[in-house]
Amino acid sequence: MTSRMDKLIDLLKEQNLVGVALNPGPTLTYLTGMSFHLMERPTVLLALEDGQVGLILPELEMGKLPKDLSRWQVFSYGDDPATWFAAFETAFQSLNLTNGEVGVEPTRLRFMELSYLQKAGSGIEFVDASQVFSHLRMNKDSEEIEKMKEAARIAQTALLRTLKGVGEGTTEKEIANELLIQLLKGGSDPEIPFAPIVAMGENSANPHAVPTERALRPGDLLLIDWGASFEGYLSDITRTFTFGEVDPELIRIGEIVLEANRAARQMGKAGLEAGAVDRAARSVITSAGYGHAFFHRTGHGLGMEAHEEPYIYSENDLILSPGAAFTIEPGIYLPGKGGVRIEDDVIVTEEGLLSLTDLPRQVLPLVTLFN
Ligand code: CO
Ligand code: CO
Repeated sequence: MTSRMDKLIDLLKEQNLVGVALNPGPTLTYLTGMSFHLMERPTVLLALEDGQVGLILPELEMGKLPKDLSRWQVFSYGDDPATWFAAFETAFQSLNLTNGEVGVEPTRLRFMELSYLQKAGSGIEFVDASQVFSHLRMNKDSEEIEKMKEAARIAQTALLRTLKGVGEGTTEKEIANELLIQLLKGGSDPEIPFAPIVAMGENSANPHAVPTERALRPGDLLLIDWGASFEGYLSDITRTFTFGEVDPELIRIGEIVLEANRAARQMGKAGLEAGAVDRAARSVITSAGYGHAFFHRTGHGLGMEAHEEPYIYSENDLILSPGAAFTIEPGIYLPGKGGVRIEDDVIVTEEGLLSLTDLPRQVLPLVTLFN
């Protein structure tokens, strides 16, 4: 964990920040290896540019702390809310934190914590440090990549087990629920990244469909978007199947989306713009005449969160570097008919993109997978 703290310290120096104040969440876990829950009592990590680390937390959470806390100062408090502010005050005094800018995660830190921080650090300016955190976690090391691989493997196995029981009359909800069971049985962390999307027929034209009582019937596309979590790292995959004879246009859009997915996977590599990956997928779909039916970005970063940097949209000039992890998920959606999306999880290397997901990508008849 020390090297991650050192990486943070370098980023703080670059941005002229004296430190960061973090609520429980992926960044705190990334830096410390510990996970805390967000609750009605504040838990805040202060990591400073001079190497000091302070942790303000409820006494009952002390059991989570490792034995070796050489670099750390811990400020715990009891059950009486009237005493909580004193822990913040002591922390700022002990860490000698009196002025300068301290970065926060705007989507994580709450009004409660910010109020305590501002009161205890009246000479400090608290600023949005999203840039620091996204760069800190964007490029994954080999240990993180192994966890993402395992999250992908668990998800793929769970889908294959789920589909064995699917046939005419099975509902979207039944598939989603069975998939959840298989994800958990197969070794996913209990906190799965997101509820599976299972969409049949006309419902598959909605990229964020919620499973319903709609039952599978011949002529349907079946789109499933799901993921697992392994030791805090996530997968996010989509595959689309046919059931019975489907409209030839749906077969055609399946071929185009497959080609777009392939073009994007072949395009990305270290040194290229993130936007180039989106443009590669989009140009395939646009030249086939379906540009209007591909109305979302090609992908998003993936790691400890299901959506993080880098985002894969046409205008993004961020240069990809080795270890960046993201999804490639082009789609074509035809209202009233159906939609196809094919989503893979990839890692940037010097040579190209390494796909962590390897289930057949082609839009195949549901039964084919089991022959
Ligand atoms: Co997805
Ligand atoms: Co996704």
